Parts: sequence; structure tokens; C-alpha cells
Amino acid sequence: CRVQQWDSDEPVPRAELLAGVAGKRGLLCLLSDRIDREVLEAAGPSLKVISTMSVGFDHLALDDIKKRGIRVGYTPDVLTDATAELTMALLLATCRRLPEAVEQVKNGGWTTWKPLWMCGYGLSDSTVGIIGLGRIGQAVARRLKPFGVKKFLYTGSRPRPESAAEFEAEFVPLTRLAEESDFIVVTCALTPATQGMCNKDFFGRMKKTSVFINTSRGAVVNQEDLYNALVHGQIAAAGLDVTTPEPLPTDHPLLSLKNCVILPHVGSATYATRSTMAVLAAENLLAGLRGEPMPHELLL
Ligand code: NDP
Ligand code: DGY
Repeated sequence: CRVQQWDSDEPVPRAELLAGVAGKRGLLCLLSDRIDREVLEAAGPSLKVISTMSVGFDHLALDDIKKRGIRVGYTPDVLTDATAELTMALLLATCRRLPEAVEQVKNGGWTTWKPLWMCGYGLSDSTVGIIGLGRIGQAVARRLKPFGVKKFLYTGSRPRPESAAEFEAEFVPLTRLAEESDFIVVTCALTPATQGMCNKDFFGRMKKTSVFINTSRGAVVNQEDLYNALVHGQIAAAGLDVTTPEPLPTDHPLLSLKNCVILPHVGSATYATRSTMAVLAAENLLAGLRGEPMPHELLL
């Protein structure tokens, strides 16, 4: 292949993308590249394959892509473990207030051992609600089980008894999941149905002692409603690996809250995982260009 590459870790500027894609047969992109009708039109009819180095595909205009008969490759499975590990790290950091505690050690707030100082919430005997019991949702549940979780609830577009059996997880409506869970973990895809799903009504149903974790996509959450829920003590704490927008502006109100832990979208960020994702994305692209089955094709 002849390759035209944006040779930087920074996102390709939109104008460079639009100019560079013209007349190409294949496009390898990242989740930070919005591949919409404008890009498809700039590419023209030569474009046959899009390969994204991500499992999420909400940045791709799938209807337009499908209409043009373009094939799409993505990177499921290879990042499941890394993302589940990070979800666990974020959950524990949030419920046991680790960033706040580390800060106290540094700024002299640690004066002595006090019975209620820096207390948080534990997983033992808890109810955990998982929004989206897919690959990552199941991998999170598998890691949570040995912590002594008493009950798993999950929600999605339909019950998945084959996925739920291992955790004896119960399929419930979103409202019941919000009301009964001590920890809520969001691991669903961003779709029109899940956009803004965690809103005022949802947070209003949660217990005051419950912890909310999102490692899916920022837009699943109405951030203003989350901010109000955190400020008014409607929920105990939140841990977010994903936000809207990304990066979150450094003066964003959520960053002023002690009970909100925010990470910069690092779910899959291990060296090994990112390397495997990159190779898989390249293999998907090459297979698509050859007209062969892709290792992981998104069926449109
Ligand atoms: P899967 O396709 O395996 O899982 C997606 C889940 O979303 C499915 O269980 C699906 O359940 C669920 N879902 C779809 N619609 C709804 C709905 N209306 N309500 C609740 N759940 C719903 O994908 P993965 O587990 O591999 O990845 C999930 C997402 O995680 C990705 O799409 C990506 O956005 C995000 N991600 C984030 C990372 C990070 O760095 N933070 C890293 C990797 C992924 P059902 O089909 O039963 O509805
Ligand atoms: C994905 O792949 O969708 C993640 O958000 C980054 O790995």
C-alpha cells in the first residue's frame, strides 16, 4: 500500500483530514476523528474501508457509511481486560476517596487517626448495577465478584441470560437499577437510546450513599444533572473516565468537586493493549482492502 500518514499523537486537524482522505481507498482512524458525511464526501467513491482503532464506533456515521457500501473494522475483545481493570481502579479510587486521601497526606490534612475521617463505601455485601452487560460489563462483574458483592443487577435493550448466568445477575429496568444499586457501573455503547440516559430522574432515584462510575462514553450522562446530584448530596460520589467534551475544560464545575474523580479516557491505556489495538486496526484495514474477511468487522 501507499500510505499517507498523520505522523503525530495529536489528532489530525479537520482540514488536513478532509484534504488527505480525498481519493483514498482505506482510512484508519481514531475515536477522536469524527467520520461523518463531510469526510465521506471529501473521500469520494474510492473509499471502501474504514478501520477504527477503538471498540466504540459512535464517532462513525454508520448510516451514511452503509449507504456507500463501505466496510468497517473495529477492535473489540483486545481491550476488554485493560478497560475492566481501569474500571475497577476508578471504582475503588472513587468509593474509598483515594485522590482526596492522597491530597490530605500531601497538604498536611492528615493530623492523626480519626474514627470517621476519610471514610467511604465498601463493596462487600453490596448490590452492583451494570448498565450494559456486554464484553466490558461482564469483565467488570467478573472482577467485582471476589470483592463479596451480594447481588448484580443489569439493564440493556433485552435480557441476556447467557451472559448473566455467571453472576446470577438480574435483568431490571433502568429505574429499578438506579433505586437498588449501591454501585452503578456504565459500560454500554453510546447510541441514540443511551445518550443522556443518566439524567436528573436517574440520579434522583439513586441512594444518597451510592457511587456512580462511567467508563463508556461521556454523552451517556447528562453532566449538569450529575453535577447537581453530587453537589446536593443526592448521590455519594462519581468516577468518570469519559466526559463531554474531551478533554474536559480545566475550569469545568465537575472538577471542583471532591466527590468526583475524573480520568482522561484511559480505559484501554496499557502499552500492550494499545499495541494490539493498533495491529488489529491495521489488519482489519488490509483485509478490507484485499476484499477478504476482516479479523473484526462491524456488521452494518
Ligand atoms: P459491547 O457491545 O460488548 O457492550 C455494549 C453493551 O451496551 C451491550 O451489553 C448492550 O447490551 C449495551 N446496550 C446497548 N443499548 C443499551 C441500552 N439502551 N441500555 C443499556 N445498555 C445498552 O461493547 P464493549 O463492552 O466492548 O464496549 C462497550 C463500550 O465501552 C464501547 O462502546 C465504548 O464506548 C466504551 N469503551 C470505553 C473505553 C474507555 O477507554 N473508557 C475502552 C473501551 C470501550 P444489549 O445489546 O443487551 O442492549
Ligand atoms: C474505545 O476503544 O472505544 C475506547 O474508548 C478507547 O480504547
